[in-house]
Amino acid sequence: MTTRKLLLLPGDGIGPEAMAEVEKLIAAINEEAGAGFESERALVGGSAYDAHGAAISDADMTLAMDADAVLFGAVGGPKWDGVPYESRPEAGLLRLRKDMGLFANLRPAICYPALAEASSLKRELVDGLDILILRELTGGVYFGEPKEIIDLGNGQKRGVDTQVYETYEIERIARAAFELARTRRGKVTSMEKRNVMKTGVLWNEVVTAVHGREYPDIALDHMLADAGGMKLVQNPKQFDVIVTDNLFGDMLSDIAAMLTGSLGMLPSASLGAPDEVTGKRRALYEPVHGSAPDIAGQGLANPIAMIASFAMMLRYSFEMVAEADALEAAIAAILDAGTRTGDIMAPGCRQVGTAEMGDAIVAAFRERLAA
Ligand code: NAD
Ligand code: IPM
Ligand code: MN
Repeated sequence: MTTRKLLLLPGDGIGPEAMAEVEKLIAAINEEAGAGFESERALVGGSAYDAHGAAISDADMTLAMDADAVLFGAVGGPKWDGVPYESRPEAGLLRLRKDMGLFANLRPAICYPALAEASSLKRELVDGLDILILRELTGGVYFGEPKEIIDLGNGQKRGVDTQVYETYEIERIARAAFELARTRRGKVTSMEKRNVMKTGVLWNEVVTAVHGREYPDIALDHMLADAGGMKLVQNPKQFDVIVTDNLFGDMLSDIAAMLTGSLGMLPSASLGAPDEVTGKRRALYEPVHGSAPDIAGQGLANPIAMIASFAMMLRYSFEMVAEADALEAAIAAILDAGTRTGDIMAPGCRQVGTAEMGDAIVAAFRERLAA
């Protein structure tokens, strides 16, 4: 039997609560489908800092590099507000992304019909919504140098972050966008701010060139990222794939989350380039939401973003398409049945906690796998 090695990094806050539901899914898919998943847990974020003074240890970083896929919960929280910048919980996630080479971050925003009322927009604007934000994840202002606070010695300081993109970084994310669009509705919208940023000018130029050379079958348009944010709430269904840089992608995907009803609904996949010899790509799957300190430890978190991230793992790392479809159908069925965590609660529905939501989805998933 194939064995598939997973590294689970639950992290902080609601991360471990959500990850517990993934462990139930792993047991289910192994039992019902002989999937051969072997998982081990390691620390990341504040919990790793507390244990060994770094947001991820070198040993755990090696485990992540060697795993077939990594599942990540969430990191951060007020407990670690005072720790040195280099060791803050979020640094663990950034190191994983950078060292694993995870340049392509897929953030699908799908509005399940049962949740159209939970969106902050009118039903007709979001019902049936299925868009994909493709966020560049290893470049831009997150990683550009210099990045520092300089003491100017006159009672003033200067904070510096640097936005940098090189041609190859834009080319590979553009290709990823066009390839994804080919499997969807064939449309890519590229967002930057070429009116104020040099990286925006280059981004626009490179995306246009890749399109002209290699993807004439795909429809491409360009938007300034601020106007793109506006269009995303004005009429989100006009989009198919949105490709954008690291920082704009971070913000636009949180906005897109609310179109689907809750930040607790949005999964993501972070993918590296295929290995030239084996064709395998490093990958990490994580919900878009954070550690939600306001509800952590109370069993209130919506585990669907984490569970749907597991479905993306089945699809993108293991080509287990039928199983991924079954899991997504299980989520839809449970929502249709009116089962809701607090963040997506609606009149006439039944409110449950994290574990009960997970159990319901796992049971529906098992039924579909067994059928
Ligand atoms: P957050 O995403 O943690 O929470 C924002 C709001 O959404 C909160 O009210 C929270 O209760 C709610 N929410 C989030 N996920 C939910 C879920 N699954 N179910 C129900 N409600 C949910 O963002 P924040 O409060 O700005 O950040 C808290 C911490 O998380 C910070 O330290 C931040 O850096 C970190 N963070 C981590 C990640 C990550 O690990 N990938 C992502 C974003 C933020
Ligand atoms: C996300 C988060 C991260 C980011 C933080 C926690 C570093 O907000 O994954 O969206 O800014 O990329
Ligand atoms: Mn974010």
